[in-house]
Amino acid sequence: MKPAVAMATVGEGELAACEVDGVKVLVCQVEGRFYALHDQCSHARQALHGGTLSGHQLRCPLHGGRFDVRTGECLGPPASLPVQTFPVQLERGKVHVDVSGVRARQQPKFGPLN
Ligand code: FES
Repeated sequence: MKPAVAMATVGEGELAACEVDGVKVLVCQVEGRFYALHDQCSHARQALHGGTLSGHQLRCPLHGGRFDVRTGECLGPPASLPVQTFPVQLERGKVHVDVSGVRARQQPKFGPLN
């Protein structure tokens, strides 16, 4: 586990982008719980931290693909693959994230660079 962001900087229903051990991570808070996901849409080369959060559902800012922040499960097209989630631990006012299990993914062939 590595410190990612201060808990106070991620309010209820908010998203925060950060980097842990070179991995781009999105941290969010829903119903008082913190979640961490790979900050990369599974559809194209688009970061997800500019998206919108509605309950546990995160909508990609580029094409509107939807994901469950608890599991990374894809909930709606055009994305069809899940986004990786990471274990989270709260300690001394900070959200700690474990990215040791990050998986290499096939780079999408289109989309803006982030
Ligand atoms: S880049 Fe996210 S849905 Fe297309």
